[in-house]
Amino acid sequence: MCGIVGYLGEGNVYDILIKGLHRLEYRGYDSAGVALVGNDGKINIFKTKGKVSNLEAFCADKCLDSKVGIAHTRWATHGEPSDTNAHPHYSEDGNIAIVHNGTIENYKLLKDALLQHGCKFHSDTDTEVLAQLIEYIRVTNKCSLLSAVRQALKQVVGAYAIAVVEKDNPDTLIAARQSSPLVIGMGDGEFFLASDATPFVEYTKECVYLKDGEIAEIRRNEPLKITNLDNVEAEIDVTTLQMSISQLEKGGYPHFMLKEIFEQPDTLRDCIRGRVVERGARININGVNDHKEKFLNAKRIIIVACGTSWHAGLLGKYLLQDMCRIPVEVEYASEFRYSNPVINEDDVVIAISQSGETADTLAAIQIAKNAGAFVFGISNVVGSSIPRETYSGCYIHVGPEIGVASTKAFTGQVMVLTLLSLAIAQLRQTMTQEQIADVGKAVLKIPTYVKRVLELNAKIERMSLIFTYARNFLYLGRGYSYPVALEGALKLKEISYIHAEGYPAAEMKHGPIALIDREMPSVIIAPKDHLYEKIVSNVQQVKARGGNILAIVTEGDTEISKLADHVLEVPEMPECLTPIITSVPLQLLSYYIAINKGKDVDMPRNLAKSVTVE
Ligand code: M6R
Repeated sequence: MCGIVGYLGEGNVYDILIKGLHRLEYRGYDSAGVALVGNDGKINIFKTKGKVSNLEAFCADKCLDSKVGIAHTRWATHGEPSDTNAHPHYSEDGNIAIVHNGTIENYKLLKDALLQHGCKFHSDTDTEVLAQLIEYIRVTNKCSLLSAVRQALKQVVGAYAIAVVEKDNPDTLIAARQSSPLVIGMGDGEFFLASDATPFVEYTKECVYLKDGEIAEIRRNEPLKITNLDNVEAEIDVTTLQMSISQLEKGGYPHFMLKEIFEQPDTLRDCIRGRVVERGARININGVNDHKEKFLNAKRIIIVACGTSWHAGLLGKYLLQDMCRIPVEVEYASEFRYSNPVINEDDVVIAISQSGETADTLAAIQIAKNAGAFVFGISNVVGSSIPRETYSGCYIHVGPEIGVASTKAFTGQVMVLTLLSLAIAQLRQTMTQEQIADVGKAVLKIPTYVKRVLELNAKIERMSLIFTYARNFLYLGRGYSYPVALEGALKLKEISYIHAEGYPAAEMKHGPIALIDREMPSVIIAPKDHLYEKIVSNVQQVKARGGNILAIVTEGDTEISKLADHVLEVPEMPECLTPIITSVPLQLLSYYIAINKGKDVDMPRNLAKSVTVE
């Protein structure tokens, strides 16, 4: 949510910043801006409403010479998206410029105090308050920028990642973080700063993840220095990135989303690698092996997550209860944190997040830790906050997901939850060795089966034309297919802006059945599983009311295929693995419907990839 880029070095500052902003645009794209400190003792700030491409057009005829700069792409929190509310913000005397990600909760209080001191404000943002506060302290206390930043941050309540530059000081860049990510790229005589490592991966693989409460002092031709708010020097922990530049490009696909859907055979293979061993007979999850007693003694598992990750979590409930016979609760992290939850020391809390930075999920983790529970994280982004804040965990290893609508991360999360359930079942002996091996062997086939499902692409593209102008959709499923229905509906709404509701198929008759007519398609996920006969009845109920049915069924299906208007067949799998297979056609369906409607599938309106605010 909001992307920050900074650069200090001998390269072309503006070009590096703009390229970096494009890479971070998935984090927010309602406005963008740059602040460039030149040799002439000036900060040039250019900012515009809209996407980074608007900013580029705006800057085309401007003087862009600079020695150090900061840039930002915004997802609005305080104040509507506009030129004025866009970052960077600056102090009234024009001495400093700042970009900020997060929310300053006590900004009104700070603003009132500054107004009393005669400060004037030009925007509605909390960030401008921070800019004015830093400069007010710098001038009043006659101190350095670094010291002013430290003193200002001590007064701030909330979350922030900031980068600050000063007019007369083209050799310095100050950055700080609290609950919002920031990483420093360490080049040869140059430093990069960004919300994640994607803007600088082609320049350097060496980086330092800033920790909460740390301030980085980046000076030209000097080593990086990191201190905390009490000015105590911190150790510099350099990480080598594994990411490659090709992972950040579209690779010939028109959109990241389509590329990411098609990557799934490979991403699932990467996710499984080393975790299903002895030809499927044994499951090896280090995060479980290292904490066996926690999983052996767990009386309950609580899963916390948001959005698509919550849907994966709901599947986790079915998987864990089936395989491990442990009671599982699945909570929206945003509700959990304020629900006065009852958490016991023998609970295992599983936090799921693609980005590893979701604010609500991080808050839920903190609550669980404070209550003494063992917290296990499932994330995609290596080095992000959630893996660092949890006691143990498991990466999904699907590579950077750039499309705002989650696809390969969802199937990766479901795969990890399947493997985790098998590993715990192995440990608690709630499944026989034979049962584990049966599922383990099928897991090894998943990448090939997903590849087969992707062969439906052309058929789904054609089929999408029939559904493009529907105004409402119902997605129905039972058992393992119910979370798939929820996820299918979410995918459609977020990228095509068509209203879609996911429902347990049997629950439909308690209300939503009233909506059914020829105009409203029902997408029914009905693979061959132990509830198949039950869902046949639900399909008949829709049919009897003249509903228009698209069914996802197992290859060779006859019963539902006869009733449905449109059918997509997927390969047969053990029931617990069907969600990975059935969710792929739904991803493609949403993608093509959104494309037919001319929507920007990679950057849907109002959304951001990483939701780092409440
Ligand atoms: O990074 P996270 O998995 O924690 O993000 C959670 C949700 O914001 C995310 O899944 C969101 O719902 C996506 N837009 C879904 O496509």
